[in-house]
Amino acid sequence: MRTQQGKKGSNGSELKVLVRHRAIQRRISQMANEIARDFPGERVHLIGVLKGACIFLSDLIREIKLDVSIDFMAVSSYGKSKESSGQVRLNKDLDTSIAGLNVILVEDILDTGLTVSYLCRILRERRPKTLRIAALLDKPSRRIKNIQGDYVGFKISNEFVVGYGLDYGERYRNLKDVCVLKSHVEGI
Ligand code: IMP
Repeated sequence: MRTQQGKKGSNGSELKVLVRHRAIQRRISQMANEIARDFPGERVHLIGVLKGACIFLSDLIREIKLDVSIDFMAVSSYGKSKESSGQVRLNKDLDTSIAGLNVILVEDILDTGLTVSYLCRILRERRPKTLRIAALLDKPSRRIKNIQGDYVGFKISNEFVVGYGLDYGERYRNLKDVCVLKSHVEGI
């Protein structure tokens, strides 16, 4: 298996594997089973938060043995920085109504919680039957808003991670593993 361990980027950054692809796949299968157990015989409507959650969502839906539909929202809060601007902007809204549906908001990572709490506020106003949160990763130590995931893949410590959909300045989303991005140059 190819690994990003110790790989040097041209800008002086280094990638260290935190969660391997195989462990991600195993956990996603378990999460899908948890969802199927919670909604037996029902339809679930997954809303992916672009762009980071697209890879997680595409793997997750294929493991859920229920009637599943999907939609997407796009938000921006980080830009090219590693720190959130603290302000969330909705760049793309849903295509269809969620009234009466079992909605699962699918995020790549829960960090401060600002993004998910903003999105949950918008979604609740649209009267879904239920609203839950699925996140591949969770950095609870960084939380500002009082939110928690209903289906969480891995709790991680306060480090900036990339890969499996997560980016830094739009790079690294295609890595199969989740990696810690260590910067050796000030400001990157
Ligand atoms: P929150 O609003 O602070 O919870 O941040 C959520 C969003 O910030 C995620 O959907 C990611 O796009 C981004 N983010 C937070 N932490 C990281 C990280 O470690 N790597 C890459 N993106 C992150």
